[in-house]
Parts: sequence; structure tokens; C-alpha cells
Amino acid sequence: MCLGFFLLALLSLLGSATGDSVTLTPVPRTTALLQPDFTSSFLSGSRSGSSFNTRSGSGSGTQSFSNFTGSKDDRGTCVCSVALPDNTFPVERVERLEFTAHILSEKYQKELSKVKEYVQLIRIYEKKLVNLTVRVEIMEKDSISYTELDFELIKLEVKEMEKLIIRLKDGFSGSSEIVDQLEVEIRNMTLLVEKLETLDKNNVLAIRRDIVTLKNKLKECEASKSENAPVAPPAPAPGTCAHGGVVNISKPFVVRLNWRGFSYKYGAWGRDYSPENPDKGLYWVAPLNTDGRVLEYYRLYNTLDDLLLYKYSQEYRILYGQGGGTAVYKNSMYMNWYNTGNIAKVNLTTNKVSVTQNLPYAAYNNRFSYANVGWQDIDLAVDESGLWVIYSTEASTGNMVISKLNDTTLLVLNTWHTKQYKPSVSNAFIVCGVLYATRTLNTRTEEIFYYYDTNTGKEGRLNIIMQKMQENVQSINYHPFDQKLFVYNDGYLLNYDLIFKQEPH
Ligand SMILES: *[C@@H]1O[C@H](CO)[C@@H](O)[C@H](O)[C@H]1NC(C)=O
Ligand SMILES: *[C@@H]1O[C@H](CO)[C@@H](O)[C@H](O)[C@H]1NC(C)=O
Ligand SMILES: *[C@@H]1O[C@H](CO)[C@@H](O)[C@H](O)[C@H]1NC(C)=O
Ligand SMILES: *[C@@H]1O[C@H](CO)[C@@H](O)[C@H](O)[C@H]1NC(C)=O
Ligand SMILES: *[C@@H]1O[C@H](CO)[C@@H](O)[C@H](O)[C@H]1NC(C)=O
Ligand SMILES: *[C@@H]1O[C@H](CO)[C@@H](O)[C@H](O)[C@H]1NC(C)=O
Repeated sequence: MCLGFFLLALLSLLGSATGDSVTLTPVPRTTALLQPDFTSSFLSGSRSGSSFNTRSGSGSGTQSFSNFTGSKDDRGTCVCSVALPDNTFPVERVERLEFTAHILSEKYQKELSKVKEYVQLIRIYEKKLVNLTVRVEIMEKDSISYTELDFELIKLEVKEMEKLIIRLKDGFSGSSEIVDQLEVEIRNMTLLVEKLETLDKNNVLAIRRDIVTLKNKLKECEASKSENAPVAPPAPAPGTCAHGGVVNISKPFVVRLNWRGFSYKYGAWGRDYSPENPDKGLYWVAPLNTDGRVLEYYRLYNTLDDLLLYKYSQEYRILYGQGGGTAVYKNSMYMNWYNTGNIAKVNLTTNKVSVTQNLPYAAYNNRFSYANVGWQDIDLAVDESGLWVIYSTEASTGNMVISKLNDTTLLVLNTWHTKQYKPSVSNAFIVCGVLYATRTLNTRTEEIFYYYDTNTGKEGRLNIIMQKMQENVQSINYHPFDQKLFVYNDGYLLNYDLIFKQEPH
């Protein structure tokens, strides 16, 4: 800036010098033609060859112009040439000055353009900053609550592990090095969670991965411990029904928040079951729109890890989905068709409807949905033997009706009538042909309280306590090979392991 001002001054100085008609040339001595008023003062004097005054009437300044020649032209005008010695007019100095000024001016231009650039950049950054502030504000309003919740859930998980390690330590009577190390790691995790609470939710993912690793270590540890302990009952072979039904359920494992976010409280999720490829099924997540009714978008994930990392293989849009009664079997999704008592079958490779079929006498549009869950009058289910539908009819007066469907045609193969009123049930699922229904005990627990066995026509009470993270269980899907429940709990995706009775009935 200082440079700029200096140069401006310099340039104006030079400007006034060149503004006169004195021309400067590189030769040391310069001949200059005198100005008209100068000439006219000569004429009035009418003298030639004598000394003259630079200013008429002043009588001074003769000594500086000591060497000149004068002559009269044809019209009697006196023309005078003056040779200016170097020391009188500093030609070289001016030249140098001019040269320097030129260089400086170039530099100045450069600096000036830089400054202009900076100003522009600053303007851009200013805009970006404003934008960022707006976005942070939106984030703060929108997602802080669920980030906090995410942390709450992680804390719960870490606490669970802490409890487990304490139990393990007792079991090892304080002698195992591995257990001690695991304890340190879990304590570290607790600290880390506290530290990361202020950061974004990407870190939640990282932590979750660490937790999974830790959990696996714990499991191994437990397994090695139980080698000498009384043999735990072996789980029935995946996908088979060599057991006496569900007798208990694990604590929930929070997989993650659904991909659309905290406000998408309604929906369903699960894993495709294809008996030919039982362990290859893709995972699907279908949050309803915030109206709790329209199923418009769903995503598919190749693996559970992909789901954890939000790395989906497909995102599809449909225009006819209704409710969270969705199920997936053999790479097709089944759902209630919007505003009707129909069922649609959608090919997951193409997202195209392959079949639609009316479910005879089925009530729909919240006539007999579940307790605290709307638009699930028609709830599809998958078990070891295929596709089922749980619903009510006017004839059943709202009691649950179970139908086995042909998954190719969606025609009803067989129907069973229960004595359980559907709107008093919070949700239901089918395992080995047995329907299990849940009800809400309080904001943190559900109970699997009712069963109907389609194999025998028997029904009855159960008392299996099921913990949950949020208040409402929006949907339950069972996966026969994993023998897990996939629960959509107010936007959170939960997994439960089912525990079966040892010997078959
Ligand atoms: C005047 O000019 C003449 C020729 O250009 C030169 O020989 C002479 O020395 C000059 N006189 C002075 C006083 O500079
Ligand atoms: C903020 O930036 C995003 C992405 O860079 C852009 O889509 C959005 O329009 C910007 N918003 C404003 C208010 O400038
Ligand atoms: C726990 O954290 C401390 C410091 O952060 C680190 O030095 C130590 O190696 C960690 N221990 C384990 C087992 O991760
Ligand atoms: C069911 O499982 C829970 C959690 O694993 C456990 O605390 C409870 O004791 C089990 N109940 C029965 C009856 O086995
Ligand atoms: C889905 O569509 C693909 C491509 O048209 C086809 O190959 C596949 O057999 C279909 N799957 C089902 C279950 O109909
Ligand atoms: C389902 O329907 C298809 C087509 O009509 C038929 O080929 C198949 O045998 C049926 N399956 C059952 C279990 O009835």
C-alpha cells in the first residue's frame, strides 16, 4: 500500500514534467525549441545576437543559458536554440527515474492484482463461512439429538461390555492376562467415547467397529472359558426347526440409525432369506416417509458391514408402498399396496412389480393395525418354510388371521384364525410356523406374550421379556438362517438373537 502511494506521487510528478513540450532524448545535450511566448518576448525587443531574459522584464536567469544561437526566419520571427548542458537539466537522472518508475509500476501492478485476488478470495471465503454457519446451524437443529442418542446407545453397549468383563474376571479368578488387557481396552473405549462425544457422527462408526472387534474378543474369551465349564446347549442348525420354539431372547444389539435419519421413526428392515443361498441374503432398510404411511424409498446392502458404513448397493423408489409390514424372501420384497387390501411382489434386482394380488377379506387402512403402529393391517412375514401374512378381517372382528401364501402367485394356501385381537398387539413374527406376538410393557420393555402354532392349532401365553432402545417397536422381521429378529425401533435398527428350547415337542 505504501508503495502504491509513493508510486502515485511519482507518476504524477513525471506526468507534469512530460506534459510540457520539452522533449527529452537519450543524447547528453539536447536542443529544445523554445516556447511561443518566449519567442514573442524576443520579437518585442527586436534585437538579435544579444543576451536575453527568460522572463520579460525580470532581467535575471541569463547565466544558466550561457550557450545559445539565435536567428530570424523569413517572416522576421526570431528562433532561438539553446543547448542545455547536462548539469542544468538532469536528463540521465530523469531517465533513470523513469526506468525505476517503470519497474516499480510493474511491481505495483503485480501487487495490486494480488491484492485484488486476495479480496476476491476473502469474499469467496466469507460466503463459504456464512454457508457453513448456516449448515452447522441446520445440523445442530437437525441431528445433534440423534448424535447424542447414538452416543447414549454406544455408552450402553460399552457398559454392557464392562459388566461382562467383570463377570469374566470373576470366572477367571483374576488370573488371565487376556482378560486384564481386555478390561484396559474397554476402559479406554469408555474414555474415548466420552472424548468423541463432541465430534461428528462419523466417529460413531469408527467406535462401533472397535466395539464389534472388542465384542468378538470377549466372545472368544467366553468361549475359551466355557471349554472347561458345563457344555452350553448347542444352537439348532441354522434354517432348521429342530427345536421346541422360542424360549428367550438376547439383549438388543443396536446396528445403527436408519439411513434417512432420526426423524424417520417408522419403517422396517431385515435380511433376504433364500433357502438355496441362506447366508448370502442382502440387507434391506425401508424407512417410511415421515407421515408413517408411505413406503417410497428403500436401500439394499450387500453385507452388514456395508450397512454399518452406509455403503448401499441400491437405492430404489416406488410409488405404491404402504406401512412397515414389508418382508423380503428369495430376492423379492412383499408389501401392502397403498390404499388397498392388495399385496405387491417387487423384484429386488429390477425394482419392478412382478405380481399384485388381493388378500381376500383383509382389513386395511388402519382398520386393524397394531397398537401404536399405523398402516400395518397387512403384515408380511418369512419363516423357514416361506411367506406368510398376518392380518385381520371383519369376520374375525379384528382378531389375528394367519395365511400361508404361495410366494410365486401370492394366492392363499391355508388360513388360521387366532383368538388374539390384533390392535392390542404391538407386533408379530413367525418362526417355524409359530406366530409370536409382542405387547408393550413400558418404554423400555416389550413382552413376547402370545403364540399361535399353525402346526398344531394351539395358542397360549408366553412371558419372554424383550428390551428395547426406544419406545415403539415399529416392525419385526425374522431371519431363519441367522435366527435373529430385525427390529425397527423408532428409527433404530436392532438385532436380537432368539434362544430356542432344546428338544422338539
Ligand atoms: C558553447 O557551444 C560551443 C559549440 O557548441 C562550445 O564550443 C562552447 O564551449 C560552448 N560554451 C560554453 C560556455 O559552454
Ligand atoms: C452452500 O453450499 C452448498 C454446497 O457447496 C450449496 O449447495 C448451497 O447452495 C450453498 N448455500 C448457500 C446458501 O450458499
Ligand atoms: C489405552 O490408552 C492409553 C493412552 O491413551 C494407551 O497408551 C494404551 O496403549 C491403551 N491401551 C490399550 C490396551 O489399548
Ligand atoms: C433370558 O435372557 C436374558 C438376557 O440374556 C437373561 O437375563 C434371562 O435370565 C433369560 N431368562 C431365562 C428365563 O432364561
Ligand atoms: C428379477 O429380475 C431379474 C432380471 O430380470 C431376473 O433375472 C430374476 O430372476 C428376477 N427375480 C425374481 C425373484 O423374480
Ligand atoms: C405356487 O404357484 C406356482 C405357480 O402356480 C406353482 O408352480 C407352485 O407349485 C406353487 N407352490 C406351492 C407351494 O403351492
